[in-house]
Amino acid sequence: KPTYLRDYRPPAYRVTHTELTFDLDPAATRVKARLHLERHPERESGLPLTLDGERLVLKAIAIDGQPLEEDEYALTEDGLTVHRVPERFLLDTEVEIAPEANTALEGLYQSGGMYCTQCEAEGFRRITYYPDRPDVMATFATTVIGDAKREPVLLSNGNPVERGELPGGRHFVTWEDPHPKPCYLFALVAGDLEKVEDRFTTMSGREVTLQIWVEAENLGKTDHAMASLKRAMTWDEQTYGREYDLDRFMIVAVNDFNMGAMENKGLNIFNSAAVLTHPHTATDAAFQRVEGIVAHEYFHNWSGNRVTCRDWFQLSLKEGFTVFRDQCFSADTNSAPVKRIEDVSFFRTAQFAEDAGPTAHPIRPDHYIEITNFYTLTIYEKGAEVVRMLRNLVGWEAFRRGSDRYFERFDGQAVTIEDFVGCMEEASGQDLSQFMRWYSQAGTPEIDAHGEYDYANAEYRLILRQRTPATPDQPDKLPLHIPIRLGLVGTKSGRDLPLTLDGESLGTDAVIHLREDEQEFVFTEVSEAPVPSLARGFSAPVKLRFPYGREDLAFLLANDSDGFNRWDAGQRLAMLALDDLIAAHRNGVEKVMDSRVVEAFRTLLSQDSDDKAVLAEMLTLPSEAYIAEQQPLVDVDAIHAARTFVKQSLAMALRDEFLAVFEANRSEAPYAPEPEQIAARSLKNVALSYLMAIEDEEGIELVQRQFAADHNMTDVRHALTLLVHSSRDDLAEPALRRFGEKWAHDPLVMDQWFSIQVTRPQPDALERVKFLMEHPAFSLKNPNKVRALIGAFAGQNRVNFHRADGEGYRLLADVVIELNRLNPEIAARIITPLTRWQRFDEARQALMKAELERIRAEELSPNVYEVVQKALA
Ligand code: ARG
Ligand code: ZN
Repeated sequence: KPTYLRDYRPPAYRVTHTELTFDLDPAATRVKARLHLERHPERESGLPLTLDGERLVLKAIAIDGQPLEEDEYALTEDGLTVHRVPERFLLDTEVEIAPEANTALEGLYQSGGMYCTQCEAEGFRRITYYPDRPDVMATFATTVIGDAKREPVLLSNGNPVERGELPGGRHFVTWEDPHPKPCYLFALVAGDLEKVEDRFTTMSGREVTLQIWVEAENLGKTDHAMASLKRAMTWDEQTYGREYDLDRFMIVAVNDFNMGAMENKGLNIFNSAAVLTHPHTATDAAFQRVEGIVAHEYFHNWSGNRVTCRDWFQLSLKEGFTVFRDQCFSADTNSAPVKRIEDVSFFRTAQFAEDAGPTAHPIRPDHYIEITNFYTLTIYEKGAEVVRMLRNLVGWEAFRRGSDRYFERFDGQAVTIEDFVGCMEEASGQDLSQFMRWYSQAGTPEIDAHGEYDYANAEYRLILRQRTPATPDQPDKLPLHIPIRLGLVGTKSGRDLPLTLDGESLGTDAVIHLREDEQEFVFTEVSEAPVPSLARGFSAPVKLRFPYGREDLAFLLANDSDGFNRWDAGQRLAMLALDDLIAAHRNGVEKVMDSRVVEAFRTLLSQDSDDKAVLAEMLTLPSEAYIAEQQPLVDVDAIHAARTFVKQSLAMALRDEFLAVFEANRSEAPYAPEPEQIAARSLKNVALSYLMAIEDEEGIELVQRQFAADHNMTDVRHALTLLVHSSRDDLAEPALRRFGEKWAHDPLVMDQWFSIQVTRPQPDALERVKFLMEHPAFSLKNPNKVRALIGAFAGQNRVNFHRADGEGYRLLADVVIELNRLNPEIAARIITPLTRWQRFDEARQALMKAELERIRAEELSPNVYEVVQKALA
């Protein structure tokens, strides 16, 4: 069943050109394919032709115009074999498929009234018989035939070359894509869509038409995506020298979509949640997310499409690099320190948890059962961290030369991670062989650091030890090459001290390289006792422990020249206090607030901060999920109680300060999703959360006023969340009703309405989930709804999902069992919280495992089977 990396062989036959004709019908779409095939030059003659195909009804098959006899080919559940074929030939097939019955949302399916496709990774085999693998690259010519009224718009990749009327009220459009591509980049869209159009002139003067296609009611929600697209196109020209290569670039918004978006050549298809925005319906975070995803998909045109992956084990080749590119773009467009803080705090919460769980895998896995299970935080985000380390190791200039070399040398090819890193090696002259282990070794490296200052010799001795814990299939790990960016902050001066290592002076902010299990670094001429600021900017995706005292952390929080590490010092300080409070809660001891945290916050609040967005992050306590990640055994109730206690203590001690910040950052200015406004709003809303934490009259009044003012979705949603998550149902209910009625017509806003309710800490949350599953706006067939209701409950409502009676687990398992039939990809994702049972007490472990067993007893899709199997191994 599993596919192994070591088994890779080039295909026996390659396709040079693909002609497709779709005659659309919900129950019986006909797909005619003419493939121009030839033997792969590296493979022997006389091999049979094997094509992938699933859920296809074959209607006709011919080679070079000659229909095949039944004994000349064989059909199986997953494909078609033709026993004998010539060296070069044309294969014609015709199949029938049923888009309306496709609830997996892979291949050709219907979303509302429209037709759309999702082919990555292996969806094309549900459209026609084909070598469905990324190392087969062909030019495509696609004719789409539809009903002229129901499907006035017929789109595919490339440029439209012909259109016309047909009998019976039908019409057609033919598209040609001149760039050879693997079939996972194929796309088709048909329906009653409207477009917003703009233009872009590339650096070499090519005129590109930009179109965003949406349902008519969403025409007012495309401005931000369009502006983001143009910014991304300019950025890729200026930063990577990459230019767009077709006459048009299209984006389509669809409501039913398994993930965020897809980079199909010239015809990106987006989950409507990842492209539509309006100040009244989308939050600042949503605006920023849309900007990032539009850029991400656009950047794939080079990192993914022009140069693609040889096989799916190389997925991080395109995803890690492209996430790194979109992160840098967003950092350049918004506040760079905040972007880094957001990315890292998400990473340390969610990717670390993945790396520590039963589905841990390397950035380049060596086997899989179902590739869609590998669109993970490890492949994407850890992959991006590794590319970021590469950029830092070789420096931007060599990295850019390496990138140019990569795109030039491999243009139009399907390549491997070695090809990419090899270009970086050549461009920099550095030996990256040890660095390559980052791609093959799973798990989060842990570094134990110790430091000693020697007054007499003015030396600072830093000892670093690395160890990567065992992960499934990988008991033993080798030492990695880990770049540690650091500074030594003088305790007297509060400044970064000059760094001298082995007689070489390195400036005040330098990178040291940990390559052994253990290494000692002796800094000389250190004129005062320092506090080390380690792994600045999260210079490597590791857990770094250093025995900081609380004074050290308060000192770094006030003095570190690296904004990221200032924030991190605050998080570490809060964690020390939280640890004490968690212990107190468990031991039934009275909780006492650490005054150092209060004073650190007081200082933060009194400073005139130039970066309000960073300040807002610094005032935000670690999330319950992050705190849980730090505990040996997760006690959800103790974590919730401890965090609530810290929040309330800070709110009581610093009430006036929070009020002043709140007032100073209020604004009546018309909404714009611009960095300065976003920063002020987030600071104001953090202050409001504290003011509401003790639920006194004034706090409640402020929140209600913000809700009623209805100024923009960021503020309204924040106020609604504070009301709904408070202990006061008399505040929650009227607000929920008002919001729900006002937005009943807007599915993306209703998603937010669902999430806010099911993440409330009150004990009725689980009953609410059940109740809302019957709501007319809810549907298990729509992935956004499943994520908004079930995903939010199981992933974010920790106290209620982990109810001691196991009802949370049972609910999730019931949903997984149903989704296993409807949409296996979503089922295999939504199950994640159940797979993390190892982290909980025995009673909960038993309940979680029992639900996993109940799921395993079903007839499972490969997707769910693979995850459950690992979770119970
Ligand atoms: N390549 C897409 C992106 O990252 C995601 C495709 C995910 N495919 C899937 N079956 N989950 O932009
Ligand atoms: Zn991607």
